[in-house]
Amino acid sequence: MDILKAIKTRRSIRHYKALPIPDNIINDIIEAGIWAPSGLNNQPWRFILIRSHNKKEQLAQYTSYSRIIKESQVCICVYYHIPSGYNRDKDIMGIGACIQNMLLAVHAKGLGAVWLGQILNQKDKVSTLCELNNDYELMAVIALGYPNEKGHSTRHPLESFIIKEL
Ligand SMILES: Cc1cc2nc3c(=O)[nH]c(=O)nc-3n(C[C@H](O)[C@H](O)[C@H](O)COP(=O)(O)O)c2cc1C
Repeated sequence: MDILKAIKTRRSIRHYKALPIPDNIINDIIEAGIWAPSGLNNQPWRFILIRSHNKKEQLAQYTSYSRIIKESQVCICVYYHIPSGYNRDKDIMGIGACIQNMLLAVHAKGLGAVWLGQILNQKDKVSTLCELNNDYELMAVIALGYPNEKGHSTRHPLESFIIKEL
């Protein structure tokens, strides 16, 4: 898919079909994520893949978006590996780029996903569920599956984002 078309047609997808996602597609999505830019190329992102029904049920209790997690086929917990970091702001921006790359890859593969941030309110509990120590901090959960909705959203007019031309 043309990259500009992919950027403009990607939408958050919150309803999924009960169809399994092949492993190679998940690998392609992660691969897109790890090719994101990062400061000093430090690649501070790490991932936990949650596919099991039981673990998804447990993860779902830590967010008000539990229905999305339960309905998804796979949840990718995106972690900041703090020992790999060098500057918190820049590391987190790199992880944002990684997440966006994955969302675009999801869309290009005909799947749908949503970036879940509200679950960060319970990030410590998610880390306990994932059996991770303090070297890792949760940045987001990406819920994905084959889309069972179109998704829709809007943007403000482009002009409204330009502060000034100098
Ligand atoms: C940092 C961040 C956190 C988000 N958290 C949630 C969330 O917890 N639940 C949810 O349903 N969507 C969440 N979203 C998705 C946004 O609601 C969505 O991207 C926005 O409404 C624009 O819609 P679009 O992605 O379809 O263009 C989050 C997006 C970002 C970037």
